[in-house]
Amino acid sequence: MKIVENTRSIESKVTLICHCGGATGMCLLGLGPSFYPTRSLWKLQRLLDQHSSWAIGRSKLKLKLKLDASVVSVSAWYGSKLVGFGRASSDGVFRAVLWDILVSTHWQGKGIGKQIVKKLLTSPSLENVEKVYLMTTKSGGFYQQLGFKYADTQKMLFLSKD
Ligand SMILES: CC(C)(COP(=O)(O)OP(=O)(O)OC[C@H]1O[C@@H](n2cnc3c(N)ncnc32)[C@H](O)[C@@H]1OP(=O)(O)O)[C@@H](O)C(=O)NCCC(=O)NCCS
Repeated sequence: MKIVENTRSIESKVTLICHCGGATGMCLLGLGPSFYPTRSLWKLQRLLDQHSSWAIGRSKLKLKLKLDASVVSVSAWYGSKLVGFGRASSDGVFRAVLWDILVSTHWQGKGIGKQIVKKLLTSPSLENVEKVYLMTTKSGGFYQQLGFKYADTQKMLFLSKD
């Protein structure tokens, strides 16, 4: 786990933490900023429950499994409050996918979401990957500001195993 920078805006001072694959400090010890134990996995569960539409009701065990399958995660903190999160999976060379990009409602519009995505894209796990994909329902305009383009020639397919 590496504390990488402070994000400043008019009314906030937010610390971004870049977690290596597995996010061991968060999963096993619940670490937050300054390596201080702060029940960070529980806070991630609460952030997703309260501010996402796609990741509500996920157990801590399943959250650990998905962090374990991610090559990098970024958490955003205001003091001991978890205010944002994002993660990525990748083969390390050709393709990567961003997942769970999220900023809690009160903290949106302060530049935190962009900082999270930029930190993921420039992390050692993704910096040399050829193409980065993501799926979004309503936030395409946000990602376009970061250089992403709509894939007009491709369609998304899925197999539901529920
Ligand atoms: C999308 C999200 C991560 C953006 O984070 P954020 O911290 O609010 O964004 P930033 O402050 O870094 O950037 C704000 C800019 O993005 C734009 N933006 C934010 N959400 C947008 C959306 N849904 N559609 C289009 N543009 C959007 C804002 O208009 C603003 O533009 P401006 O800088 O020209 O004023 C955040 O709004 C969020 O968590 N939304 C709910 C969850 C979600 O939809 N996540 C994406 C899943 S794929």
